[in-house]
Amino acid sequence: CGIVGYVGERSSIDVLMGGLRRLEYRGYDSAGVAIVDDDGTIETAKRAGKLKVLADEIEAHPLHRGGTGIGHTRWATHGGPTDGNAHPHLGDEGRLALIHNGIIENFAQLKDELLAEGYEFASETDTEVAAVLLGREYRAKGDLREAFRTTVARLDGAFTLLAVHQDAPGLVVGARRNSPLVIGLGEGENFLGSDVAAFVEYTKRAVAIGQDQIVAITADGVDVTDFDGEPVEVEPFDVAWDASAAEKGGWSSFMRKEVSEQPEAVANTLLGRIVDGAVVIPELEDFGDEELRGIRRITVIACGTAAYAGMVAKYAIEQWARVPVEVELSHEFRYREPVLDPETLVVSVSQSGETMDTLMAVKYAREQGARTISICNTQGATIPRESDAVVYTHAGPEVAVASTKAFVAQIAALYLFGLHLARVRGTLSPEKLAAQLAELQAVPDKLQTVLAQGERVGELAHWMADTRSVLFLGRHVGYPIALEGALKLKELAYIHAEGFAAGELKHGPIALIEPGQPVFVVVPSPRGSAALHPKVVSNIQEIRARGARVIAIAEAGDAAVLPYADEVLRIPLAAPLFEPLLAVVPLQLFAMELAQAKGLDVDQPRNLAKSVTVE
Ligand code: G6P
Repeated sequence: CGIVGYVGERSSIDVLMGGLRRLEYRGYDSAGVAIVDDDGTIETAKRAGKLKVLADEIEAHPLHRGGTGIGHTRWATHGGPTDGNAHPHLGDEGRLALIHNGIIENFAQLKDELLAEGYEFASETDTEVAAVLLGREYRAKGDLREAFRTTVARLDGAFTLLAVHQDAPGLVVGARRNSPLVIGLGEGENFLGSDVAAFVEYTKRAVAIGQDQIVAITADGVDVTDFDGEPVEVEPFDVAWDASAAEKGGWSSFMRKEVSEQPEAVANTLLGRIVDGAVVIPELEDFGDEELRGIRRITVIACGTAAYAGMVAKYAIEQWARVPVEVELSHEFRYREPVLDPETLVVSVSQSGETMDTLMAVKYAREQGARTISICNTQGATIPRESDAVVYTHAGPEVAVASTKAFVAQIAALYLFGLHLARVRGTLSPEKLAAQLAELQAVPDKLQTVLAQGERVGELAHWMADTRSVLFLGRHVGYPIALEGALKLKELAYIHAEGFAAGELKHGPIALIEPGQPVFVVVPSPRGSAALHPKVVSNIQEIRARGARVIAIAEAGDAAVLPYADEVLRIPLAAPLFEPLLAVVPLQLFAMELAQAKGLDVDQPRNLAKSVTVE
């Protein structure tokens, strides 16, 4: 879910709707706002559906233009996406409005307690329980901050809560446990948001609220305490993103814009980190060379596309730094009692830095004594704060739900880390290290070349718009790319798609091949992967013999695939470990174009949310 709060001179409805528009990627099945004006009148509006539905409603029935407000965009957990279940929820007989991101795990028990006391509920949500409880506490204490303290003490689970009360115009109070909340510091106005995108249009000074803290903002100040009411020192930071970077800027979709921004995403991630032929990552200064030499095992944890970036990096880091690397989905890792110790390095990968499954896995790893590094794209996010160090990817804000530019930036950052490790551990000669760095630096230009084929991929996608199932094959670093290609197609075009390791084909999946079945094959380079190339070409022949329609993604000049492929999409020459950064692009474009051919919303696919802040 996305959360925004405002106190100041501006009309808060405008600030809230602008903020929600930027946060809509976090959830878009319903939205709502609550506004308090100086006279202490509270008004709310909420509607199921995308933000546009709420915007139309507010246009038809304008709210007053009070300067205090909260807004919410929802990704349903408890209770379906209906008008009634949308946030805000009311407490204290309608005098208080509250919004929530996360899950309150003990809501059923609290609801029974409140029902027994005669309180009534209008929705099925866990959130309304918090609103009613806060209302009860406010009646008892007469102070919203105090009431927050006694309320959060009763809640289990993950939450960011924001509330306004009509008795307290000019005040928004929030609490945070395990879900993100960031303050935007203005002049005579202050903001709250799930992330900085909510307010970056107005201010670039921000403060990330820590775990188990309560924040109160007024027009003139912010006050942060822990859950016991003890004051907390805050450390403001400057947001590096430009407000315009989070705008569509003439592109037909964020997805198209972000796919096309991949050369910059990689270039910016490398910027300043390769100096005189060596990798320089000042963010890792806490990890001395001695410690990096002592690492015996690396576990990469992530979800979705970020996990596939981890899988790609496994091949590279093992090859370069000679450390065993395992990659695991965060939610599987967390609950299986993994073996961890101080010589295990846990590297989490997350665009948002808020994915709850990954956050919980990082915390668990630290509790077990492992050292943790976060690869993250979002400043002030929770996962970096919970890790020993963070290496930021500088892909800029990624708004489309399906990840694209963050993926290539994650691989670039992981590669930098792998090469740094290799240098420290002395596992690569200076010449080899320099050659790999040169390959990495050449990626942005090569990405530009791949992007230039967009039109061709578009034609292919239109031609295949009625396809019901697509398979993806790859080997070595091409294997995670096959998985990512399939994920993109599922996410964006709602088409059944599966990725397989090409070598595994004969062990089962080949039974799926029937005449006309489209299969994308990521073909390794005949020069760089002399051993694997003929094997994958044989796989192509095997499926072709059974009627598959083969679309090969192959290096420029690779003629061996021509006799067997129905279509060949070309990528520029690159060393084998760098091919995935290029080969993924036609697959992203294909999924995007196919979804558009089907008339689907590529930025906000059904049922998904960009940062899943529940486990
Ligand atoms: C969600 C998104 C995916 C994303 C995954 C991990 O499921 O829909 O596109 O890859 O979360 O997100 P993260 O922010 O942790 O990289």
